[in-house]
Amino acid sequence: MTGPAATRFPHRHLLGIEGLTAGEISLVLDLADGYVEHNRKPVVKESLLHGRTVMNLFFENSTRTRTSFELAGKRLGADVINMSVDASSVKKGETLIDTAATLNAMHVDALVVRHSESGAVKLLSDKVNCSVINAGDGNHEHPTQALLDALAIRRRLGRLEGLIVAICGDILHSRVARSNIHLLNAMGARVRVVGPPTLVPSAIERLGCEVHHTMLSGLKDADVVMMLRLQNERMSGQYVPSTREYFYFYGLEYEKLEVAKPDAVIMHPGPMNRGVEIDSEVADDLKRSMILDQVELGVAVRMAVLDILTRDRRGAN
Ligand code: NCD
Repeated sequence: MTGPAATRFPHRHLLGIEGLTAGEISLVLDLADGYVEHNRKPVVKESLLHGRTVMNLFFENSTRTRTSFELAGKRLGADVINMSVDASSVKKGETLIDTAATLNAMHVDALVVRHSESGAVKLLSDKVNCSVINAGDGNHEHPTQALLDALAIRRRLGRLEGLIVAICGDILHSRVARSNIHLLNAMGARVRVVGPPTLVPSAIERLGCEVHHTMLSGLKDADVVMMLRLQNERMSGQYVPSTREYFYFYGLEYEKLEVAKPDAVIMHPGPMNRGVEIDSEVADDLKRSMILDQVELGVAVRMAVLDILTRDRRGAN
């Protein structure tokens, strides 16, 4: 048993899932559940963060994550600023630390940061007074993605504990995989990573997962099949012979899914490469694919995270 939700979240930042307890994770998920229902009402604007400022600072491209943080902040009544790194002084050579000091002087309440280097978000968080949320750092962590994935699974299958979750594809370059491994372990699920040897980091089992190199063994009796994109932008060199061959061995289509549980659900954090890691028919299968649910729940999870991390400042704890 993973026990009850914590009554408070004792962290100023959300830099990763590693180190969070099951109770703290449940606290965020329970709160997010409430925001899912709230977001389905005709009027969704709240005033919880009225007068507060959330800044999105994305050094890497993003569609879902950036827009859902923007929506989350706005739905809670905050002023949200998207700082486009292309247009900022970072392009002129300003260091990360100088950028942090500059933003700090503007008294924002929460800073949402995505960066291509693992550890950059932590570095920045040490230099500012506000709460920092990691929206993905290199191949390290992407905590809000793992939280929204967990919420999607919990709402669909009723629990996390005891489930078999297969995370498939480019594990090596995936921060989503790492955050999910930490979260699912904390919540008592059984995690498998599935991919070619070139795309599975050595010793990943130390994080608490089984390693499989065939979809047949990796998907056997799985409750959840989570597909990941080949992260070409992080690859230096050739990791797979060709995308056609990759699809043949590791692409998700109905035939490979047959060994999973009959009601196994399919997930993908996006962006998807149809015909590379996932077949279109499977991705669009309304009964089994949770890909659009993940997008919907992403807003609710980010509202919960912004709410929880600003409680001390709002005197709400
Ligand atoms: C992921 C990311 O950026 O790490 N996407 C996302 O946040 N929705 C996964 C990916 O880029 O493949």
